[in-house]
Amino acid sequence: MNILRLSDLIAAGKLKGQRVFIRADLNVPLDDAGHITEDTRIRASLPAIRQCLEAGAAVMVTSHLGRPTEGEFKPEDSLAPVAARMAELLGRPVRLQADWVDGVAIEPGELVLLENCRLNKGEKKNKPELAQKMAQLCDVFVHDAFGTAHRAEASTHGIAEYAKTACAGPLLAAEIDAISKALASPQRPLVAIVAGSKVSTKLTILQSLASKVDGLIVGGGIANTFMLAAGLKIGKSLAEPDLVGDARAVIEAMKARGAAVPIPVDVVCAKTFAADAPATIKAADEVQDDDLILDIGPQTAALLAEQLRLAGTIVWNGPVGVFEFDAFAHGTETLARAIAESPAFSIAGGGDTLAAIAKYGISEQVGYISTGGGAFLEVLEGKTLPAFEILQRRAAG
Ligand code: 3PG
Repeated sequence: MNILRLSDLIAAGKLKGQRVFIRADLNVPLDDAGHITEDTRIRASLPAIRQCLEAGAAVMVTSHLGRPTEGEFKPEDSLAPVAARMAELLGRPVRLQADWVDGVAIEPGELVLLENCRLNKGEKKNKPELAQKMAQLCDVFVHDAFGTAHRAEASTHGIAEYAKTACAGPLLAAEIDAISKALASPQRPLVAIVAGSKVSTKLTILQSLASKVDGLIVGGGIANTFMLAAGLKIGKSLAEPDLVGDARAVIEAMKARGAAVPIPVDVVCAKTFAADAPATIKAADEVQDDDLILDIGPQTAALLAEQLRLAGTIVWNGPVGVFEFDAFAHGTETLARAIAESPAFSIAGGGDTLAAIAKYGISEQVGYISTGGGAFLEVLEGKTLPAFEILQRRAAG
């Protein structure tokens, strides 16, 4: 991909004394007390920051956090917890600046975190006036927010259009290189796990993968819709009956290529959605009208684990059960451990997937962990993300 990379600018000694604006994705999960529960994205954003500081630049970094209302600051939308964690990790103070669009006072060697960029009016709609003001703050714009690379917003797309120089940061570049490489010439069999609550949010990815992968493992509410498509009863489990036809089409498309969507042979059910609800293992054709399917059963998990052990490449997005509740975590844990033990190159992405990887302590055994959720899925679908479209255009022009 022909894009300018931060490493090119550093190698050419072009950052010394320059004002650099890094768009990172520091959108990390916070608990009710505002504490960061998982900091992968902050850690993954540090190399770009360190490299720019070491190269003698004045470094401004911004990110969104959640989906606040533009122009309406609320304390819970603040990047303050991120600034504190970043300061800890970098071992230096990180100044947090609010109301930064009209000017930022900063010297070379300094680092300033610019408050939640989604508070600025015009951010979401990629308004040129806002993007131009942001571009004026810097000499070099560094897009390093892979998690937000599928959004065309003022701080991700418009600024790249207007900044004097626009380049890809190391995280953005590494992510696209790793995911594209895994899919361009994968070691076969290529097995994808696509799980989550709704088929509707992942239908295009399921359709796209149906023409590429050798095995498509579905989980969560998505698996329930596929069970309906296979003629099984799912009681009162989460599903989208309207999309049964689409699920059937995915099954048929896979079958036509000699590949398969494995349908669970057993499931773990409860009568209510609660951590302490009694869990009952049932054959897939014995689900009652008042049952809720909250995990795949042990037999299904063992069959899928075997498939993962024999895979050449594994793409993983989403836990296959309600793994936050121990009684319904066995399926996700079994697959996670099978991925860890498999000789296959594995690539994983998505917030819940990262949480499962952390819970089972297998991060060292996963080939590549993406910081992207929606962006990861869109790359898997084969889409060109707005981040790369604009950086390619700037590199060409
Ligand atoms: C994510 O969490 O997937 C990214 O930070 C993008 O967030 P968004 O879906 O609110 O744009």
